[in-house]
Amino acid sequence: MYGREPRLFRAPGRVNLIGDHTDYNEGFVLPMALDRETVVAGAARADFTVRVHSLDLNVAAEFDLKEPGEKRRGSWLDYVEGIARVLQERGASVRGADLMLHSDVPIGAGLSSSAALEISVGLALLSLSGQSFERTALALAAQRTEHEYVGINSGIMDQLISALGRRGHALLIDCRSLETKQIPLETQDVAIVICDTRVKHELASSAYNTRRAECERAVELLRAYVPGLRSLRDLTAIDFFRYERFLPDVIQRRCRHVVTENGRTLTAAAALEDGNFDLMGRAMYFSHESLRDDYEVSCPELDLLVEIAASVPGTLGARMTGGGFGGCTVNLVRRASLAEFQTIIPRKFSAAFSYEPALYPAEPGDGAEEI
Ligand code: GLA
Repeated sequence: MYGREPRLFRAPGRVNLIGDHTDYNEGFVLPMALDRETVVAGAARADFTVRVHSLDLNVAAEFDLKEPGEKRRGSWLDYVEGIARVLQERGASVRGADLMLHSDVPIGAGLSSSAALEISVGLALLSLSGQSFERTALALAAQRTEHEYVGINSGIMDQLISALGRRGHALLIDCRSLETKQIPLETQDVAIVICDTRVKHELASSAYNTRRAECERAVELLRAYVPGLRSLRDLTAIDFFRYERFLPDVIQRRCRHVVTENGRTLTAAAALEDGNFDLMGRAMYFSHESLRDDYEVSCPELDLLVEIAASVPGTLGARMTGGGFGGCTVNLVRRASLAEFQTIIPRKFSAAFSYEPALYPAEPGDGAEEI
């Protein structure tokens, strides 16, 4: 298309094993990078024009980095133009480039196709411009892209795992310090299976921003009792039980989710380090209940998937993953029961909803890199 020889870059989507709606509360998350990715083929240009063609959508676009940018068109281009401009604003001298994109991360399924797009394009533009940029700084620029150019006040989880994932590992992230710890995830006996409801909720982004605002409100209210409280990350379980009665019902439940989810995430990470999948699985079930009842970001399709998964004897844990309101569940299933799991889930689900969910067995993959 462009008559040039490209370099190739990739960045993966992710599935979060546990710790949802904790990242923007400066808490803990435990995602893994997927073996599904966005690939960018790119060649540098001598000017400041970025031309980009999406093979999946079969559309092309271009923008000039010297001209003022456009925001929040509500299309894939927001991510591409956004990351280019944010990197530029943050001091990288990003040059023009011809880019071609292809992705096998399902779009809108809650597996972070958007982070994969931002990080792969960001890495490509930086590398083609001869710029080096620290991985965490790239992830922060991608998060800024979500806030400014897309309009979702997302946390840092998706971008950070896409930038830092490692094959055979999950990543424990402290979303305050941005310290990370690679935790070996041995999938010989236990499989990670993603079940996609195929439900895409239009309301998800506004509901997401509302949840975030409720958490900020909670911190404001709790400061009257816990002076200096900076975020829900700092709220101890003891203080929560001491002061919950002073909070409005909804805010109380949002807080309970965040406080207990942080605890579960640390428990699950420790369990994983010990190879204790039973304990990790139990934490996942409790996480789902908390997201469903206290945080209220699940939906009937997700709840049914978890219920069916739990009825298969070899399932150790199941929960919705990511932002919610549709999207996927993540399941920890003994390999010996995998075939049974893959038969029962579509059968029982379609009996209730008249269509089959998509199933993706997943392996923890590497983060962004040049191919
Ligand atoms: C989305 C956001 C993340 C995180 C999850 C919920 O994926 O992009 O930052 O908040 O939802 O855990």
